[in-house]
Amino acid sequence: MRHPLSLALILSAAIVSTAAAHGNADHGKTLFSRCAACHAATDQNKVGPGLAGVFGRPAGTAPNFRYSKAMIAYAKPWDEQTLDGFLTAPAKAIPGTSMTIAVSKASDRADIIAYLKSLGSP
Ligand code: HEC
Repeated sequence: MRHPLSLALILSAAIVSTAAAHGNADHGKTLFSRCAACHAATDQNKVGPGLAGVFGRPAGTAPNFRYSKAMIAYAKPWDEQTLDGFLTAPAKAIPGTSMTIAVSKASDRADIIAYLKSLGSP
């Protein structure tokens, strides 16, 4: 331990960047109020598909939901990258999607994704 202070700084920087990468699910739950008009956090479909289990599920596959052709054709599994891209600019990530709500702040997207992840995976 020749440089205890710099070691502590490196460790705390690592902890901060991990938190940013994984998001804060509690804050994501609060932010989900922006989504809740159209999405339930259960498997119930509303204007949008139910989002329980969405993390890890291929796009466009919630049972009994009528997706756009674009979403069905996209078909990639929802993970951190695909969700982040979609929530950044839905119509850019999936031209023709019927979802138009974007989340402009990266940390908000990470928090929402952490919350979606906490809803389970298939
Ligand atoms: C105005 C209604 C509306 C709002 C608000 C909305 N969505 Fe959506 N969302 C939809 C619709 C409709 C679809 C289906 C899109 C399609 O079929 O192209 C969808 C699809 C999705 C999907 C893909 C689901 C799947 O089963 O493949 C995700 C993920 C998603 N929305 C997340 C969110 C999040 C997170 C928010 C809040 C930041 C949000 N949505 C806000 C209407 C909405």
